Amino acid sequence: MNTWGIVVAAGSGSRFGGDKHAAILGGVPLWRWAERLFAEVGLDGVVLVGDVPAGIPGGARRQDSVAAGLAAIPNSADIILVHDAARPLASKGMVCRLLEALAAIGEVAGAVPAVPIRDTIKRVSGNEIKETIDRAHLVAVQTPQAFKGEALRTAHAQITSDVTDDSAMVEAIGGKVLVVDGEPRNIKVTFAADLAMAESLLTEESRR
Ligand code: CTP
Ligand code: MG
Repeated sequence: MNTWGIVVAAGSGSRFGGDKHAAILGGVPLWRWAERLFAEVGLDGVVLVGDVPAGIPGGARRQDSVAAGLAAIPNSADIILVHDAARPLASKGMVCRLLEALAAIGEVAGAVPAVPIRDTIKRVSGNEIKETIDRAHLVAVQTPQAFKGEALRTAHAQITSDVTDDSAMVEAIGGKVLVVDGEPRNIKVTFAADLAMAESLLTEESRR
């Protein structure tokens, strides 16, 4: 299997308040963590998207940055992992679970890490609750996400509406996407406080 990775590190970091990819975590820029993870896993190639060394330019939306990454990957890549630079704490074990799920018997187009939802979820209109959603069948998904190359390429060619992850595109073209165990520590650095949280997770773990 020819397995490639895309790390998306473009975007404006508006909620973070500046250049998120370059923020320092554990002594290195945020984007390095994702690159390091893919290097540890031993992929056949990695494309970095964004204003980072050897990075290619990103696009206006996250999905446009992924598309730019896809265009830079050889057609021979039959498995593609897509990862947000904003999730520095994803583990090697998680990548292994994704690749195993993708190799399952049957027509599996993708695999994504998921964690249970802790909060009670409500649908609202303005400030009024309209409905309490049964969370028994709800999960929160993370990156990296793993896909068969053909499914991801077809999805990106066909879906132009706004989506928030690659799985949504593959789902939209009818691809079967499986969930594997995600990890609560694999937080997404969205706000500045999330970086402090990631730093404290690292410090806590180094003390063990
Ligand atoms: N991303 C990207 N290109 C974009 C938007 C986002 O490569 N046009 C990447 C970010 O670098 C990040 C991941 O997609 O690793 C998730 O996006 P998000 O956390 O939303 O980052 P930003 O879009 O930069 O932040 P914000 O939405 O707060 O502006
Ligand atoms: Mg964004």
